[in-house]
Amino acid sequence: MELSAKKVDLLITGIGELATAEGDALAGGAALGRVVRISDAAIAIEGERIVAVGAEAEVRAGFEAEVTLDASGKLVIPGLIDAHTHPVFAGTREDEFEMRLSGKSYVEIAAAGGGIASSVRGVRESSKDALIAQLLVHLDRFLALGSTTVEAKTGYGLTLKDEMKCLEAIREAGEQHPVELIPTFLGAHDYPQEFKDRKPDYVDLLIEEMLPAVAESGLAEYADIFTESHVFGIQDSRRIMTRASELGLRLRLHVDQLTPLGGAELAAELGADSADHLECISEEGIAALGEAGVVPMLCPLVPLFIGQKEEAPGRAMIDAGLAPAVATDFNPGSCYVQSMPEALSWAALRYGMSAAECLVAGTLNAACSLRRGDYLGTLEVGKQADVIITDLPRLEHITYELGRSPVSVVIKRGRVVYERGGAA
Ligand code: NIG
Ligand code: FE
Repeated sequence: MELSAKKVDLLITGIGELATAEGDALAGGAALGRVVRISDAAIAIEGERIVAVGAEAEVRAGFEAEVTLDASGKLVIPGLIDAHTHPVFAGTREDEFEMRLSGKSYVEIAAAGGGIASSVRGVRESSKDALIAQLLVHLDRFLALGSTTVEAKTGYGLTLKDEMKCLEAIREAGEQHPVELIPTFLGAHDYPQEFKDRKPDYVDLLIEEMLPAVAESGLAEYADIFTESHVFGIQDSRRIMTRASELGLRLRLHVDQLTPLGGAELAAELGADSADHLECISEEGIAALGEAGVVPMLCPLVPLFIGQKEEAPGRAMIDAGLAPAVATDFNPGSCYVQSMPEALSWAALRYGMSAAECLVAGTLNAACSLRRGDYLGTLEVGKQADVIITDLPRLEHITYELGRSPVSVVIKRGRVVYERGGAA
């Protein structure tokens, strides 16, 4: 007797190569490059979940669907996860890009009233609806570039009212758009202009008023800080982030980006979920992240964009057994790039990471850095059906092809949410 195939909502067939990490835990050291590759594969999806993955003949024997998507013999990967972005802003800063090309540094531009302060002016002048409209444009681009989950930081409001406006914009845009957003409060991004002559008062304001109100609102899952010599030093960062943690917020930290301050050690001490940037991390910092199991969040496009000569020692971290993720750090100042495929290519070129290592860093490890490895980051039975159909022939092309989007179709929570019209 022939067993009848189970009816499901969607079958993706004709997958030339399916490439995915496995499991729900961080993959570090040699395990970073461990990717399952299946030729002539198919995926069965029921509701928001994957119910079968494997050789097409086997999947077809077990499942049939009303809707079948043909991947045309191309590479299929999990939805990319961009675990470090600053997408809530108004106005762009291309003049600073030009100033850097003529020799001004990122910190000099900030000291002259540009930098973060200029984006703060833009956000304070914008209504919530205007911020939402702009954020939705950014989300469309993320999706078209294959990012199905995006961590979204505030940090250009720097008053409780303006930071809450940004958090509400993230919540409301997330409700209207398929990209899954994870909200992070970055009130400690810089000292606002009105506190420039009394910086300790802003630290007190963060600790006594802003963090408690943000935690109470339930609008942020994470707190973040710019720990850097011209912004928040180690002692203030420890005070602010300890308070955030006591209030129930999880932690991510911008550390050791422009100067070696020991921020990675602080992120380890605080039990942060990620330590981000790390261009100037020390040997001790690498060891500390490893011992504490903190995810190094590599942002390889940023030194390129701001003309910084130091780059994160990505390969040394992997050799030390760490489990990095790779992110864009999309923001108007230090990286106006939304493309995870581009970030992965630069991780390959600058850190010597293989395509397989880059894939894991941009999917499973990124998911784990957001404590979402249980349902995101791989193409496996039981996981959320976040799937990218590319126009690439095989995994190695994900890093090999720079400067264009390889994304043909995006499936988020089991639904087709993006289809490219023509050639990229
Ligand atoms: O991640 N490092 C701090 N924050 C951003 C830059 C923000 C800006 O310049 O607007 C970053 O590089
Ligand atoms: Fe950043």
